[in-house]
Amino acid sequence: MAVDFSSLSLFRATPTQITESRRRTLAEWGRGLTLEEHLARDASQDQFDGSRDGRLITWVLAPRDDPQTLEFKCACETYRRTGLIKANRTIKVVPCYAIASVFTPPENRDKGFARHMMRLLHWVIADVSLLPAREYPAAWGAPPLKVEGTRNGHFSALWSDVGHFYNACGSIPGTREGWVVRGTATTVWDVDSSPAIDRTVEWTWLDDSGVSELWVNDAETIRAHVEKSDNPGPSFSYLPTDGVASFQHRRLELFLQRLTMPPKTWGVASPDRAAYATWTIDPRPPAPRTLTVSRLRADAHIFGELVGRILELARKHEVKRVEIWNLPTELEALAGTLGAETHARTEHLPAFKWYGKESEADVAWVFNERFCWC
Ligand SMILES: CC(C)(COP(=O)(O)OP(=O)(O)OC[C@H]1O[C@@H](n2cnc3c(N)ncnc32)[C@H](O)[C@@H]1OP(=O)(O)O)[C@@H](O)C(=O)NCCC(=O)NCCS
Repeated sequence: MAVDFSSLSLFRATPTQITESRRRTLAEWGRGLTLEEHLARDASQDQFDGSRDGRLITWVLAPRDDPQTLEFKCACETYRRTGLIKANRTIKVVPCYAIASVFTPPENRDKGFARHMMRLLHWVIADVSLLPAREYPAAWGAPPLKVEGTRNGHFSALWSDVGHFYNACGSIPGTREGWVVRGTATTVWDVDSSPAIDRTVEWTWLDDSGVSELWVNDAETIRAHVEKSDNPGPSFSYLPTDGVASFQHRRLELFLQRLTMPPKTWGVASPDRAAYATWTIDPRPPAPRTLTVSRLRADAHIFGELVGRILELARKHEVKRVEIWNLPTELEALAGTLGAETHARTEHLPAFKWYGKESEADVAWVFNERFCWC
């Protein structure tokens, strides 16, 4: 029997629904953890800077007449973040969102629940003036209730492991589409077969607090760059501060602590701090141990030396693979001369939704790098 979507709505999960949503993901995302470890890991992430103070919200698609049921259809998470947009020559700091953990349990799959949940999600995160309630499709019943601190987003993004599925999840059927995949270029070094690259200057290695300080200055650099954007349409970027970029390495702490020599270095910077890279290391088998650069800034003349430092750190921690997302074209070509290969990634596809009136085709995502992934 076809599902009557108007009988369902999107609700902020209760504490017991949050636990249930996490329990459901153990088999697919637990990566060998026990249920207790899996839940404890999620609970510790709730205390991260990027999650605290209402930034992280778990949503459930549930019957309107029983919103607190533990038999909700599916769930997802949103992280409220700070972004920059440049439109009509004006730069603005705005709330925006990153979306994670979209999950329907196997017994509920292929009934359209995730699609409907994601269609409704726009209506709880998009700025109320950009997506006014009067446009809400009547066929979906009453709009979801407003949750404090939401309905203020100017754009949102997710990193899809299910291809272009989220493009079919628009806020208004037929006229406003969903999230659009943008920027899947991935540059990869096989560490063992990569050449050693000498240094000509003294680089500074950065620990957890060192990279956090770096990202404060980096946010200014990002702002200056967005301000200069020459895209004829709007441009936007996420900012790495407030725990956004640090999430990349902190979320893997439980696994990293199990290594004989847990890494403590999360970035490297040139003496004048004009060139730098930050990263995370994923040690979870069966994939080869991978260092993924979260943020990189370098001119062509120093890029090779910076790559040399990243490979040096990778070797120290028995990393097999180094990966950078969406290098600028000039650096991508240089990376090719330094032993890297670039391909279009088929997982974690960055996909964004712009809530302004412009089409996504006219909008530029600046600094579409790993740091904003979640
Ligand atoms: C992906 C997922 C959320 C879909 O939930 P659902 O409630 O079954 O979704 P819907 O019924 O609304 O839509 C099903 C569509 O998703 C597509 N889909 C499911 N898994 C897919 C995959 N791995 N790759 C591409 N498309 C996929 C189906 O083909 C179907 O497409 P169709 O409607 O064109 O036939 C669910 O399969 C799931 O939880 N998977 C495991 C976790 C996961 O991968 N989450 C996504 C992380 S980005």
